[in-house]
Amino acid sequence: MKKNILALGVLIAVFFLSLVGCNDDIEIRTETITAVDTLFLDPVLVSQGRETFRYNTFGDEAFWSGVLHIDKAILGESNGGYGAGVSPATALSVGLKVDSEALPEEVVSAIQAGQIDLQDPASTLALLKLDAVVGVKGNFNEAGDMTSVGITCALCHSTVDDSFTEGIGKRLDGYPNRDLNVGVIISLTDNAKFLADLLHVDVPTVDAVLKGWGPGKFNAGLMVDGKALKPDGTIAANLLPAAYGLQGVNLATYTGWGDMVYWNAFVANLEMHGKGNFTDARLNDPVRFPIAAENNFGNVVNDPDLITPELAALQAYQLSLDAPKPPVGSYDSQAAERGKVLFNGVAECATCHISPIFTDAGYNLHSAEEIGIDDFEAMRSPTGQYRTTPLRGLFARMKGGFYHDGRFETLDDVINHYDSHFNLGLSNQDKNDLIEYLKSI
Ligand code: HEC
Ligand code: HEC
Repeated sequence: MKKNILALGVLIAVFFLSLVGCNDDIEIRTETITAVDTLFLDPVLVSQGRETFRYNTFGDEAFWSGVLHIDKAILGESNGGYGAGVSPATALSVGLKVDSEALPEEVVSAIQAGQIDLQDPASTLALLKLDAVVGVKGNFNEAGDMTSVGITCALCHSTVDDSFTEGIGKRLDGYPNRDLNVGVIISLTDNAKFLADLLHVDVPTVDAVLKGWGPGKFNAGLMVDGKALKPDGTIAANLLPAAYGLQGVNLATYTGWGDMVYWNAFVANLEMHGKGNFTDARLNDPVRFPIAAENNFGNVVNDPDLITPELAALQAYQLSLDAPKPPVGSYDSQAAERGKVLFNGVAECATCHISPIFTDAGYNLHSAEEIGIDDFEAMRSPTGQYRTTPLRGLFARMKGGFYHDGRFETLDDVINHYDSHFNLGLSNQDKNDLIEYLKSI
C-alpha cells in the first residue's frame, strides 16, 4: 500500500514536471520560428568556412594563371608579364575591392599621405602580398615574385563598406559586388583562344561577349550551354546575387539549379575551375548542355579533391551570413507598415515571397508565364523555371536593377510589372508603400 502511494506520488510529480517541461518547449519553439537569424551553427565550422569563402582558391590558379595568364596581365611587361599591368587605380575601376583591415598601419598612412603610387602595378602586387584584394589570391615565391593568382568566392560575393575611401574598407561578406566587371577582368587574358575553342566561336566574339556583361554581372550558364546571347541578340548575363539571407531557403540560383550546397560545388568546380569532384548527370545532355556534355563537366574527378572537404564549412559560413538590416531612416517606416499589409494581402506578394524567408516554403519555383516574363533563362536550367528570390537585405543590392538579369531598373518598374501582370489595380500610394516595405526587409 505504502509502495503504491509512493508510486502515485512519483507519477504526479513526473506529470507536473512534464507540464513545466512542455511550457519550456513551447517558449523555445516560438523563439526559433520568429528568429531565422539565430540558427545555431558550430562556430569552429563557421570560422573555417569564412577562411574558405575569403581565401580558398581550391587550386583554381591552374586555370586563372595556368590557362588564362591573369597573373601575367596583373604584373604587366615591366614586372615580367604582358601589357600595361593592373595598377590599383585600374583594379578599383573594374570594381575590385581592397580590404582595409588587411593593411598595416604604415601602408594606411602611406596611402593617406599620397606616397603610394596608385598608377603603378607594383603597388597592386604589394596589396596582393598582404592578401588585401578581396577575392584575388596572389602566390609569391621566396624571392617575393608573384608566381600565380587564383580567385575565391569573395570575388563576386563580398564587397567593402568604403569606410577608408571608395572601394577600400571593411569586408562585407555575402553582399554581391555589383561594381565588379568580371568580364573585363577575364578579357585581360592573352589566351582568349582557349575560351573560344571551348565555346566553338572565334576570339573577337569571346572578347565582345566578356566586355558586354557589364558591372555586377556574370553568365554562369555559358560554361555549360555556350549561350552567350539572349534570343533578342543582346548579351546574356545575370546579376551577382547575395550570398546572405539564405537560411530556410530551399533551391538556390535564379533558376533553382539545386540547393546551396549543390551550387557551391558547381561553382567551385565549373566556374572557378578549382580542383574537386562534381557529379550531375543532368549535364550529360548534349542538346541542352553541349559544352558540359562535350567536356564531361557532369563527372569531374580530381585527386586530391580540394573542394568536397570544404563544403560543410562553406555551408555553415553562408548560413551564418544573416541579411543586413536596413539603416534607420533609409525608408519611411509608416509607409512600410502599410506596404507590409499590402504585400501580405491584396498585392498577393506573399503567395510566393513568404516571410521571414521571402521565398516559397518548399519547392520554390515558378514558370516564366506565372511571373510574366520570357523563359530564356529558365530554360537554360534543368528546372525550366524561375526561383522566387529571397528578398531579405534587398536594400543592400539595389545597384544594377532587379530580376535575374537586372531587366527592371528600379523598384517602381518591378511594382508596375506586377501591377499590370496580376491586374492588382494598385494606387500610386499603394505602389509607394510597397516600395518602402521592400526597402525595409
Ligand atoms: C565569378 C563570380 C562568382 C564567383 C567567384 C562565385 N559566384 Fe556564386 N554566383 C555567381 C552568380 C552570377 C550567381 C547566380 C547564378 C545564376 O542563378 O545564374 C551565383 C549564385 C550563387 C549562390 C546562389 C544564391 C541564391 O540566391 O540562391 C550561392 C549560394 C553562391 N553563388 C555561392 C558561391 C560560393 C560559395 C562561391 C565560392 C565557392 C561562389 N559563389 C563563387 C557568381 C559567382
Ligand atoms: C508567382 C510568384 C510570385 C509572386 C506572386 C510575386 N513574386 Fe516577386 N518574384 C518571383 C520570382 C520567381 C522572382 C524572380 C524573377 C527573376 O529573377 O527573373 C521574383 C522577384 C522579385 C523581386 C526582385 C528581387 C531581386 O533581387 O531582383 C522583387 C523586388 C519582387 N519579386 C517583389 C515582389 C512583390 C512586391 C510582389 C507583389 C506585388 C511579388 N514579388 C509577387 C515570384 C513572385
